[in-house]
Amino acid sequence: MIKYLGSKRRLVPHLVALAQAVPGARTALDLFTGTTRVAQGLKAAGFTVTANDLASYSAVIATACIATDARTVRRARLDALAAELEAQPGARGYVTRTFCEEARFFRPENGMRIDAMRAHLDRLDATPAERAILLTALLLAADRVDSTTGLQMAYLKQWSARSARPVTLRLPPLLPGPGHVLQEDARVCVARADTYDVAYLDPPYNQHSYHSNYHIWETLVRGDAPAAYGVARKRADCRTTKSAFNIRGAAWAAFREVVLNVRARHVLLSFSNEGFFTEAAIRGLLAERFGEVAVVPVDSPRYVGARIGIHNRRGERVGQVSHVRNTEWIFVAGPDASAIAETAFEAVAQAVPA
Ligand SMILES: C[S@@+](CC[C@H](N)C(=O)[O-])C[C@H]1O[C@@H](n2cnc3c(N)ncnc32)[C@H](O)[C@@H]1O
Repeated sequence: MIKYLGSKRRLVPHLVALAQAVPGARTALDLFTGTTRVAQGLKAAGFTVTANDLASYSAVIATACIATDARTVRRARLDALAAELEAQPGARGYVTRTFCEEARFFRPENGMRIDAMRAHLDRLDATPAERAILLTALLLAADRVDSTTGLQMAYLKQWSARSARPVTLRLPPLLPGPGHVLQEDARVCVARADTYDVAYLDPPYNQHSYHSNYHIWETLVRGDAPAAYGVARKRADCRTTKSAFNIRGAAWAAFREVVLNVRARHVLLSFSNEGFFTEAAIRGLLAERFGEVAVVPVDSPRYVGARIGIHNRRGERVGQVSHVRNTEWIFVAGPDASAIAETAFEAVAQAVPA
């Protein structure tokens, strides 16, 4: 899966165990699904999952990995389509010009292959599911050869070792069973009539915008060749596209609206101790809506950029790293929340002995 700020890769076993410990739970909403890692874990555990996120790249990954039933996919045909994409000769296009010449996110030879594959994808006679699977494969392939620390606000001063590898397609993991994808503001999504047994909430926790941090994935998926600005050649709409969850003065009202309106019996929520809200405030809000609340702190490493250090625009180290780990709180809200948390964490401890 792609390198992603706030990805819950390490928490997936805990979150899945929690959802499984909710008596009779079959349906789940992943409201801020991002990479869809958690949604994939839930789907693999047998839940019918709805994955929502504002980002176009997330909706494409969710179409491939959540909404597509692997049993309906013709694998040999997909392999042939992927081979056809890979056979395209490199061609200098928007990605090469913008992200390899005006910036240095990819080596030009890889940029030209990404351009050629992206252009050919639009010419393929593919179903919407096949198109999403191939576009996800291209995104993952580009991520494997980028020259960043995992954020697209900047590229590395020296090429990363992985950037020298040729870009190659690998199909993403596909899971059997039904699933759904939405691309809506979380507040709009929770105003729908649909109800879920469990909802997982993983909102942005500070001012760092996902639209800006992952502008290349947004552009690659949309294929819209926008005007670009700054050293990182961000999409012009990064100046105006803001999520309420990234604005200190607006985030709590947005969060409160989501928690009070989400139509689920139980809610699972993760939030960083470095975010806009305190543990006590979150706990109080969840208790207001759901009654019982349990909180489990999980210690985790900070994202790689924060661990490497603070650099100026020329790539020189200018600051000290204050700490390399943070705490992620997992909240469980709803009837018997404490018992659910206890059952789930025991199950994880037994599956993965310390
Ligand atoms: C912390 S990340 C989620 C990470 C995800 N759980 C994972 O493991 O990949 C927060 C996500 O919220 C999305 N987002 C930001 N504002 C949003 C909004 N108003 N409505 C829906 N999604 C939003 C971002 O695009 C981002 O993918």
